[in-house]
Amino acid sequence: MIQSVEVILDGQSESGGYVAAPEFPPYRYSWLRDGCFIADAMRIAGERESAQRFHEWVARVVRARPEGPWDARYELDGSRDPSAWPKRQWDGLGLWLATVRRFGGGWEEETSLVARWLDAHWDEPCLDWWEEREGVHGVTVWCIANGLASDELRREAVALTESERADGSHLFVGTDELVTRVKAELVSPGGGVHRHADDDYYGGGEWLLLTAMLGQAYASRGRLDDAREKLAWVRAHARPEGLPEQSQDHLLHPQAWEEWVAKWGAPPSPLLWSHAMEIALAAEVER
Ligand code: BGC
Repeated sequence: MIQSVEVILDGQSESGGYVAAPEFPPYRYSWLRDGCFIADAMRIAGERESAQRFHEWVARVVRARPEGPWDARYELDGSRDPSAWPKRQWDGLGLWLATVRRFGGGWEEETSLVARWLDAHWDEPCLDWWEEREGVHGVTVWCIANGLASDELRREAVALTESERADGSHLFVGTDELVTRVKAELVSPGGGVHRHADDDYYGGGEWLLLTAMLGQAYASRGRLDDAREKLAWVRAHARPEGLPEQSQDHLLHPQAWEEWVAKWGAPPSPLLWSHAMEIALAAEVER
């Protein structure tokens, strides 16, 4: 039995920020994107206090620079990360607005600052979910559209995806066309989901969080058996310390594995975002 709530609580800092992966030095920061999925999962799991502490952490980050923009990740105490990590990413800001709304609201001043900033800057290029490519990305605009509750922007986001390569993040946008495309191009023979065909980060394994998102896509279409199969796949990839970021059953670019291990050591595990998705998918298929 995976103790996702415990892994997440252990990874929440005093100040409320969630560490992306406690045992993996390059990820010992709190990302807005990961954090929003995690806080949402904690709300679903009934751990509202944890989610509230994260939202307060974000609100402090926002107040520290009321004019924006804000970074994709911060030190766990909420101070700015001085490293050269590419931090220009807007999706987490939109995710935060939507996550706070699902929480039941609050932080009016801070959410208004973020909404105003996104309204004025949503179409400026930034990095994608995978922090690799600069541009105006469908999933980023989708996150912003949800944050601003804008159908017009949602249409814009879907239109953007039409000229993009198949990408696991399209599962979050979740139209039938996008889900079909991800299934056709990015699902491994074993059933896990890759980020994109060119992914060579740690050889390009199957990401647990994306496999859970495919499970959610099935669940939302009433295909509960398929959704349960994805949940079982995610759980079958648990390691003693928890759920990793990726599995190595099927690497797209195995020749790239060694170079990453030499650079940063073993890949991240546990990854709190993987645990968040396990909680969210389980809530959909086990209720
Ligand atoms: C992923 C990001 C994620 C970060 C922390 C990166 O490798 O591409 O999407 O936010 O790790 O988990």
